[in-house]
Amino acid sequence: MTTVLCPGSFDPITVGHIDIITRARDLFGNVLVGVGRNNQKSYLFGDQRIALVREALEGMEGVEVSSIEGLLVNFCREQGITAVIKGLRFGADFDFELQMAHMNRGLTGLETVLLPAAAEHVTLSSTILREVMKLGGDVSRYVPSCVAREINVRRSQPSF
Ligand code: PNS
Repeated sequence: MTTVLCPGSFDPITVGHIDIITRARDLFGNVLVGVGRNNQKSYLFGDQRIALVREALEGMEGVEVSSIEGLLVNFCREQGITAVIKGLRFGADFDFELQMAHMNRGLTGLETVLLPAAAEHVTLSSTILREVMKLGGDVSRYVPSCVAREINVRRSQPSF
């Protein structure tokens, strides 16, 4: 059985991410979900992202969760992982993923597998969910229950 890394920002984790992780596990046997940092982004859920990913995936056979500090390729080398898997929704995803895939392959030979998002999730985006959530919209059908719970907690705080 192979272990692939499924890396992402997960700000927050959505049902689309969970679908990709589940299908990656079914294809490869084991998935390590890596909660990483894109330095171009500032994260609404910050360090809580990893706790929410862990809770959302708790009990899923063949799935583990880790944070990624520093370069993805170094993390993979340390873990003995030779391939990452990413969900692909539309052209803009492809353009960015292709750049990262070539950089990672150039750095250490790390391979990237791109898995098309399920039809029902192709337009789902954490960025849009954050926007709707901040403006009071109900996003609960797009996120696992732990994220919906956290959104309600935040809404009840005066600083929200
Ligand atoms: O969900 P995202 O925002 O597309 O995830 C991007 C992420 C976190 C996987 C990417 O930024 C990443 O790999 N970060 C770790 C640091 C790194 O290696 N950056 C160079 C990537 S070529």
